[in-house]
Amino acid sequence: MNHKLARLSLLGVAAALAGLSAAHAADVQKGAELVKEGGCIACHGAGLDKPLAPTYPIIAGQPESYLFHALQQYQAKHQTPLYGRDNAIMAGMVARFNTQDLHDIAAYVASLKTPLYEPDMARDPRP
Ligand code: HEC
Repeated sequence: MNHKLARLSLLGVAAALAGLSAAHAADVQKGAELVKEGGCIACHGAGLDKPLAPTYPIIAGQPESYLFHALQQYQAKHQTPLYGRDNAIMAGMVARFNTQDLHDIAAYVASLKTPLYEPDMARDPRP
């Protein structure tokens, strides 16, 4: 393989990798639209931080990876009953989303302000 050809094929690999990572990057804006269409605020509250019933969780501002896995688990129930979350309401809510949708939703929900915790960096936790 000559030099030019080698460089071209490297470029091809780089382009393919860039394409891969673009496909997996979460889109916060798309997530906001999916949450709006999905009617999530009906139960989790307008900012997803004030659930309508005390038994419903506050989801705003939870860590993205936690949210993604929680959403995936509601879908996974039927394939892996040992690991999935068994909740009829949420299973119905997430049924129509694909994996990329769940990434986008998780990124959006994680970006919202949460009333759950306010990290206080000024406070020294050491005794
Ligand atoms: C009809 C009411 C209702 C709607 C609408 C709803 N949820 Fe939920 N959601 C719940 C309930 C109830 C739970 C707790 C289920 C359980 O016990 O696992 C929950 C749990 C969750 C969790 C897990 C939170 C945690 O702390 O583990 C996430 C994430 C979530 N919902 C996201 C969404 C998203 C995104 C939408 C919109 C696509 C949505 N929900 C729509 C009622 C609802």
